[in-house]
Amino acid sequence: MSIPVLTIDGPSGAGKGTVSRAIAMQLGWGYLDSGSIYRSLAIASNQQEIDITDVAKVVRVAESMLLKFECAAELNVKLNGKDITSELSTETTGNTASIIAAYPEVRAVLLQKQKDFRQAPGLVADGRDMGTVVFADAEKKVFLTASAEERGKRRYKQLIEKGINANLAQLTEEIEVRDQRDRERTSAPLKQAEDALYIDSSELSIEQVIQEVLDWVRFL
Ligand code: DC
Repeated sequence: MSIPVLTIDGPSGAGKGTVSRAIAMQLGWGYLDSGSIYRSLAIASNQQEIDITDVAKVVRVAESMLLKFECAAELNVKLNGKDITSELSTETTGNTASIIAAYPEVRAVLLQKQKDFRQAPGLVADGRDMGTVVFADAEKKVFLTASAEERGKRRYKQLIEKGINANLAQLTEEIEVRDQRDRERTSAPLKQAEDALYIDSSELSIEQVIQEVLDWVRFL
């Protein structure tokens, strides 16, 4: 029997990270934050000062980067031996990640790195194409979304709590631009898998979303 995977896809700021981590803890499963892989590549490309419109160069960086994930209370990421955790969550990193994630050649290089996370007893995988591409055979899939306005507010709160400066209106606009890019790209665009449970979390608390997903997973 294959190792079970619960995929949680959706646009940025829908609460996927918080929900996925909590569910992974409850089930005693591993956790893959696939966005952090694209974000790490954005940081590596920036460090090496390459032109990110040059796909071949981005691919070379993707092939050579060494990533180490440690999932404690927070996700800790080391890129080529150096801690990049604090840089991971900035908006600049997220936007660059979204740009380079649109290249099919880049996605191909990062595919196996993501599949390697599938280890016993199970995996909760969060991203944009977890249920449609990377773990298309997962029997448990969720598509988690919320209104752009609500997602902007949540992201704003997260950044402020981390001590990062932010502007709500600008943040909401950037989120919408990023989502549009993620939805409209030809390679593995953000979309709901046909067999995914759809949850709009605009009017729900994080606890309610976690409970809804857990009830559904246990029912299957
Ligand atoms: O989830 P996130 O905000 O950390 O993701 C950052 C970007 O990475 C996102 O805008 C698009 C890209 N991404 C992707 O293309 N596929 C995934 N499975 C996860 C993220």
